[in-house]
Amino acid sequence: MHKLVRGTRRSRAWLTVATVGLGLLLAGCAKNAPQDTLRPEGKFAEQIDRLWQWPYWIAVGVFFVVEGLIVFALWRFRARAGEEERPKQIHGNFKLEISLTALPLVILLGLSVPTVGTLLDLADEPAANHLTVNVVGHQWWWEYQYPNGVRTANELVIPAGEDVALHLRSADVIHSYWIPKLNGKRDVIPGRLQFLKLHADEPGYYYGQCVEFCGDSHAYMRNRARALPKAEFDQWMADQQQVAAKPPAGSDAEAGMGLFQSKPCAGCHTIKGVSQGRIGPDLTHLQSRRTFAGSIFTMNAENLAAWLRDPPGEKPGSKMPNLHLSEDEIRSLVAYLETLK
Ligand code: CUA
Repeated sequence: MHKLVRGTRRSRAWLTVATVGLGLLLAGCAKNAPQDTLRPEGKFAEQIDRLWQWPYWIAVGVFFVVEGLIVFALWRFRARAGEEERPKQIHGNFKLEISLTALPLVILLGLSVPTVGTLLDLADEPAANHLTVNVVGHQWWWEYQYPNGVRTANELVIPAGEDVALHLRSADVIHSYWIPKLNGKRDVIPGRLQFLKLHADEPGYYYGQCVEFCGDSHAYMRNRARALPKAEFDQWMADQQQVAAKPPAGSDAEAGMGLFQSKPCAGCHTIKGVSQGRIGPDLTHLQSRRTFAGSIFTMNAENLAAWLRDPPGEKPGSKMPNLHLSEDEIRSLVAYLETLK
């Protein structure tokens, strides 16, 4: 009886392991995987991709040779009833030992040449006339500082088909910046200036994620790069340099602007022409972004209202406090935020 119960339990455990394993395996077939590092979409990510492809096939070859020899030895020298065949016992084989040391050495040295070359290549600043963006990691969002005073958050806007240099710093703890389709990851460390360059072949959105555990909402620290054709990028840059739009007199949005200035909002956020706070994201052109709060919410009135109602409730540990705003105040503030095109 006991044995039977134990047997059932064991087969159930196997079933669970097999189901989870199969699930993970099938996840590898996903077509919609915007952070799939195996499908690079820019030259720097492609350089890294090329680096692993041929060593991968060498590793496959080594795997089959070694596993094949093990299986052969197991079969050839298996225990057989009545006979006592043992492999010939040897004590050291100088030639064999030297070649088994030399062969991996040659393979590893061969691998190190393109690896070091690629590392050095990727560490170089791009050629002249490139755009440089200062990136600052915050708990839990990314800030982007462009030349000529433009500051934005979460969505890095870059010209498609061009090299872009990122100079990365942290405002608090260690974060790690990664947009898998555009380059490898780079740790962002307090007190250090880090470098990374990106290149997107085509216009579009490229998804990323902070990849160093950085506190409560690490999982909610996403980001994305938005590559635009050069002309559209220049237009975007010109728009970002404008001061914020003034809401129409007597409107709900104007009441919202008043609230923004009288409540603590203005102390943390910049709205060009209205406030100069530097703690939270610059909101001057908030509506030019598709997402907010670490790129975890789609930009719309409903989500903005939910966010204003209780930021730490929406995003654990959020540095933006719950201001206990009334529903009327939230409506006016959202109306104002919606004018910030
Ligand atoms: Cu920032 Cu994890």
